[in-house]
Amino acid sequence: CSAAEEKDLVIIGGGVAGYVAAIKAGQEGLKVACIEKRGALGGTCLNVGCIPSKSLLNNSHLYHQIMHDSKNRGIEVGDVKLNLQAMMKAKETSVTGLTKGIEYLFKKNGVEYIKGTGSFASEHEVRVKLTDGGETSVVGKNILIATGSEATPFPGLEIDEKRVITSTGALSLDKVPEKMIVIGGGIIGLEMGSVWSRLGSQVTVVEFLNQIGGPGMDTEIATQAQKLLKKQGVDFKLGTKVVSGDASGEKVKLEVDAAKGGKAETLEADVVLVAIGRRPYTAGLGLENIGLEVDERGRVVIDSEYRTKASHIRCIGDVTFGPMLAHKAEEEAVAAVEFIKKGYGHVNYGVIPSVMYTHPEVAWVGQNEQDLKKDNIPYKIGTFPFSANSRAKTNLDTDGMVKMLADPETDRLLGCHIIGPNAGEMIAEATLALEYGASTEDIARTCHAHPTLAEAFKEAAMATYSKAIHF
Ligand code: FAD
Ligand code: NAI
Repeated sequence: CSAAEEKDLVIIGGGVAGYVAAIKAGQEGLKVACIEKRGALGGTCLNVGCIPSKSLLNNSHLYHQIMHDSKNRGIEVGDVKLNLQAMMKAKETSVTGLTKGIEYLFKKNGVEYIKGTGSFASEHEVRVKLTDGGETSVVGKNILIATGSEATPFPGLEIDEKRVITSTGALSLDKVPEKMIVIGGGIIGLEMGSVWSRLGSQVTVVEFLNQIGGPGMDTEIATQAQKLLKKQGVDFKLGTKVVSGDASGEKVKLEVDAAKGGKAETLEADVVLVAIGRRPYTAGLGLENIGLEVDERGRVVIDSEYRTKASHIRCIGDVTFGPMLAHKAEEEAVAAVEFIKKGYGHVNYGVIPSVMYTHPEVAWVGQNEQDLKKDNIPYKIGTFPFSANSRAKTNLDTDGMVKMLADPETDRLLGCHIIGPNAGEMIAEATLALEYGASTEDIARTCHAHPTLAEAFKEAAMATYSKAIHF
């Protein structure tokens, strides 16, 4: 791109937020450029997040199931062996297929892809240090910041992605560690802890709070999830804070302290996974050159239309407010481009689903029971266990339940929490119901195919105002 060329929209960051905005802008007929520095599109999600983690979760589950859960299904297997290199290769194939697919969509929608690191030279000009050497600059009538997030480091424990790792290292270890300690029992800790536990590691999760799952998970569901993961071999130390670490010896040592009931001790492991949250990433972006603000947690400050203090510069995705989720970033991308092109756009932040892709999966949308209690909002509950669902029974996969929370007066759905097989797919139905303000009776009177897991969803709805038929 020539230095003087002006675009309608310049996007910094080609992750889910940035690439979706770029495609949408192209579709809307805007002249758009997207600057990405990692050498591949798709950001954290496609390269070192959602996609590779789901590949490993899926294939490690299959391996674990073949090893431990095939005989009772009438399948006799012989010599089952893990080929970790091949499992990693399958992961890479999924990743590159998808990242290349975005390059194709860029071409199809007339998006200019600039490979390099962008930083603000002025309010309308972004200077780019090109990956292949040299510099260019691009001028935008509008600019979108979509630079994402990075793992929060643990003070005093240097990340080498081999023995002290973040999720990125956990996605590409070259051998199964004998003992792994996970600092943080949030979604990353539990997903990646599950992967390595299934592949043979002895995994201990140390969590500061008395509940696993990170923010948002319903306490009753989190307690069930913990029991089921424990049954699979993952150990937990809850109410326990890691206070310091030392990786200088043969083993990595961690000092832990009683935070909320745990006990002080020294733990040792071959590999330590630091999974204590993620933080917005704005390093080298030159926000200071144009006086843009970040809050105390490093999030770029924006208004309800994603505008920064400079109204033609907008910001979306992990680098600003809200849950750090790919589908949230994607919704914001579409809305931000609509604001630019049409002057209006919308994201319903009360209806963003969350999924933890362990086995069983945990998924939820809307409010949880502890928050309703805290806010003094009246509610009633309907539950249905998968042990009473015919499809779960045929699948020999009956752990978990559907829990619905509804307004006691109107039956309006307030929240839905599922732990069970395919919870991540099933939550789409609850999300749609919540978006359209459905009552639980609306859900229960909607015919659901038999035999499906979704019948558990229907029967939990029924249980909020009447009785479930099969339980
Ligand atoms: P990112 O994906 O981080 O993309 C930002 C991009 O900007 C990066 O590629 C970066 O290289 C680039 N960039 C930064 N600065 C510059 C610059 N100055 N110039 C040029 N380029 C720059 N979410 C889900 O919804 N579901 C999941 O299953 C899920 N699994 C996850 C698993 C893991 C292990 C991790 C770590 C995260 C997971 N997430 C998941 C979260 C999800 O990855 C993020 O919410 C999502 O990637 C946010 O998109 P983004 O575009 O805002 O940021
Ligand atoms: P998280 O915020 O979900 O969990 C971090 C946990 O670490 C918290 O429970 C916290 O109490 C604990 N913790 C912090 N300091 C500690 C200490 N010193 N000792 C012990 N425990 C400590 O963060 P996580 O798991 O790193 O994930 C980051 C984000 O990535 C998620 O919030 C989510 O937005 C995204 N993500 C989403 C996935 C999905 O949608 N399936 C999968 C993976 C990541």
